[in-house]
Amino acid sequence: MTTGTTTQPDLYLDLLKKTVSNLIYEDPTNVAGFITESSFTREARLAGEDYPTVAHTMIGLKRLDNLQHCLETVIRENIPGDFIETGVWRGGACIFARGLLKAHGVTDRTVWVADSFQGFPVTRPDDHALDVDMDLHQYNEAVDLPTSMESVLENFRRYDLLDDQVRFLPGWFADTMPTAPVERLAVMRLDGDSYGATTTVLDHLYARLAPGGFAIIDDYCIPACRQAVHDFRDRNGVHEEIVIIDRQGAYWRRAS
Ligand SMILES: C[S@@+](CC[C@H](N)C(=O)[O-])C[C@H]1O[C@@H](n2cnc3c(N)ncnc32)[C@H](O)[C@@H]1O
Repeated sequence: MTTGTTTQPDLYLDLLKKTVSNLIYEDPTNVAGFITESSFTREARLAGEDYPTVAHTMIGLKRLDNLQHCLETVIRENIPGDFIETGVWRGGACIFARGLLKAHGVTDRTVWVADSFQGFPVTRPDDHALDVDMDLHQYNEAVDLPTSMESVLENFRRYDLLDDQVRFLPGWFADTMPTAPVERLAVMRLDGDSYGATTTVLDHLYARLAPGGFAIIDDYCIPACRQAVHDFRDRNGVHEEIVIIDRQGAYWRRAS
């Protein structure tokens, strides 16, 4: 159904994006990293460059738009497979993905929700990534990162979007990715912020990304993540063009 030039799914999805990023009630940000003021700034929230105190996602409107573009492309072009986000925090991007599938009447794709549900890991001295990764664990409290699985489930429920098309993979990626019961992916969205998390997910899941599917790297701006992406691409002969989304994120589309 259309109203003027705007379709009913667009109306719902525009409101859903504004709701998960809380551009509606404009909650303050946590003060951490480069952010020294807690007051809400529209530009920062649009760009996903703050640490919301209340909003269900920190990826901002531009990267939600990109997620919508990727999901709607695979639906329109019948690229088979599910959606996974590895690193979900309060779940807002996954909630948006489930809402998008529902808005388009898609019943044969699953949203996989993968996280430790306890924030960043303590980097152990024997981690192969220690030399390139910052110790992210120290930021857990400042940005209110550890979020329990129960509270993410509750967030899905509040939008009436928790059903059997949503599946959770709780635990450290090093433990969950090798045995993840994911058969085929159309869109994979990596948001674990470290060399180790990015490498683990790409190593275990990229082979399951369908031709024509999308790999989205939320943290391409972080040197350790960018290095993980390029090391993986070099090791596996991946040459598809990397497209920059905004100051943080990037993606590529797997060749058909
Ligand atoms: C930046 S947040 C993700 C933001 C989220 N995509 C959103 O929409 O707001 C990073 C998430 O990655 C998770 N994480 C980081 N390293 C991880 C690992 N090695 N295993 C499992 N989860 C991890 C953290 O618990 C955290 O929830």
